[in-house]
Amino acid sequence: MNLTNTPEWQALLVHKARLQDQHLRDLFAEDENRFKHFSLELDGLLVDYSKQRIDTAALKDLLALAEHSDVAAWRDRMFAGEKINFSENRAVLHTALRHTDFTPFPNAENDVMPEVHAVRKQMRDIVERVRSGLWRGFKGDAIQNIVNIGIGGSDLGPKLATRALSALQHPGLNFYYVSNLDSAHLAPLLEKLDPHTTLFIVASKTFTTQETSINAHTARTWLLASAMEEWAIAKHFIAVTSNPSKAQEFGIPESNILQIWDWVGGRYSLWSAVGLSVALAIGMRGFERLLEGAETMDKHFCSAPLEKNLPVLLALISIWNTNFLGAETTAVLPYNESMRHLPGFLQQLEMESNGKTVGRDGAALNCRANPIVWGEIGVNGQHAFFQLLHQGGWLIPCDFVVAASSDYPLPGHQAPLLANCLAQSSALAFGKTEQQARIELAATGLKDEAIAKLLPHKVFAGNQPSTTILMPSLDPFQLGMLLALYEHKVFVQGVVWGLNSFDQWGVELGKQLANSLLPVLEGNQTYDALLDDSTRGLISYFRRYGNN
Ligand code: F6P
Repeated sequence: MNLTNTPEWQALLVHKARLQDQHLRDLFAEDENRFKHFSLELDGLLVDYSKQRIDTAALKDLLALAEHSDVAAWRDRMFAGEKINFSENRAVLHTALRHTDFTPFPNAENDVMPEVHAVRKQMRDIVERVRSGLWRGFKGDAIQNIVNIGIGGSDLGPKLATRALSALQHPGLNFYYVSNLDSAHLAPLLEKLDPHTTLFIVASKTFTTQETSINAHTARTWLLASAMEEWAIAKHFIAVTSNPSKAQEFGIPESNILQIWDWVGGRYSLWSAVGLSVALAIGMRGFERLLEGAETMDKHFCSAPLEKNLPVLLALISIWNTNFLGAETTAVLPYNESMRHLPGFLQQLEMESNGKTVGRDGAALNCRANPIVWGEIGVNGQHAFFQLLHQGGWLIPCDFVVAASSDYPLPGHQAPLLANCLAQSSALAFGKTEQQARIELAATGLKDEAIAKLLPHKVFAGNQPSTTILMPSLDPFQLGMLLALYEHKVFVQGVVWGLNSFDQWGVELGKQLANSLLPVLEGNQTYDALLDDSTRGLISYFRRYGNN
């Protein structure tokens, strides 16, 4: 049966009619313990969803929708190592990477843990040697600069985590992330780095991704221009990949190749050796704390009843906002500067996973799946696009994410930061009524005529839903919980929408076309008769002004 024809969906349409025009002000007025009823805390991670436009009855039917979609059974299939990523014939076992005890996983028959432990040991060895200065470059210098070359999941997760935890970073090491093909990303970095003290991590699951391959080859040429001898590559390059033979072709010795497996999706790979730069930054124990945080969320996801299950609740709320209240986008608003890469990370996690219109059965979905995810550091957004959130008339659910204590404390900063974060979610939820605005204007001594003129501009509709996620501090454990929370939320959404969250065929067409356009742009091939007129016109412009 189509999802939208199910009794559960139909029941939710009734709630929609009931709640659509109900204001958050009313929902809070009806239940003086609304925060208590609509928030949950897990090991310090507090999720307050009381400012979402739901009530107990709607939530009950959302949970019924999750039951109908067999969320628990799908979750168990994922954790059991079934090939639920059927279009790529792969299991989805990133959770094995944060399975920290020594028991088999997913089960004794298909235990992946010996390989996982072996790579973790390899990571630990590299991390200890680099951090202690024992790893030496081709002239015997200790490493000072780590450059992670990768894109998508091989960039966004480690970059987010390294920056988020930068207060814990090794003081003698600098970390850089290069993803863009535009040489403006790599060139200025190479200009300032010293090849003697620089270690490149080429992170690429496939080791065939064009952007990463071109950047890695440029880095290799740059190193060899100083080192002159190919053996130097072993001192300055590490590969993280599921395609070791390609890494060896590049010149990286087997001992410097850290394996990932086909059951780790790119956007779920932070927990694997793709997180090597994070481990180098915060140490192996810090990295293990990140894994332990994620594992804590995994255990919660597997054991908590659906009505107390954080990933399930966040997924259902997002489905409610998207499919019932009609939100087309959702904003991620981290308030900690160190979390600045969270929106980019979540864009890939959510939109590459669920940005689809075809279900597992190959039929078109009959409802919209994932909303557009966007975001920015909260306070910066306040002085840019928040005007639209407050008065632009769009329904844009927001996730506010903030740590209660600062990772870089300076007197007089943290309380104002928190005040802004809490003020914004409150202003978005409750707005300002005409009556409140009128009283405020009158208090300034304005005459009635002036008040009437200004009044429409001073009213805030409110009723903008948000979730606030609070952490005690930005530490590896909390970050691990937070990211795993979002991963499982995306999984639950995919299950309810009936799609496969773990493939990404939609990124292939552009890659194919770029490959076929390249010889034309390089001038090695004439205009292909099949090219469309627009692309022909743009290529002729490039031929006039561009360089290769
Ligand atoms: O193009 C999308 C994608 O396949 C992502 O899913 C992945 O994270 C990224 O490219 C990088 O891929 P790789 O790690 O194989 O270089």
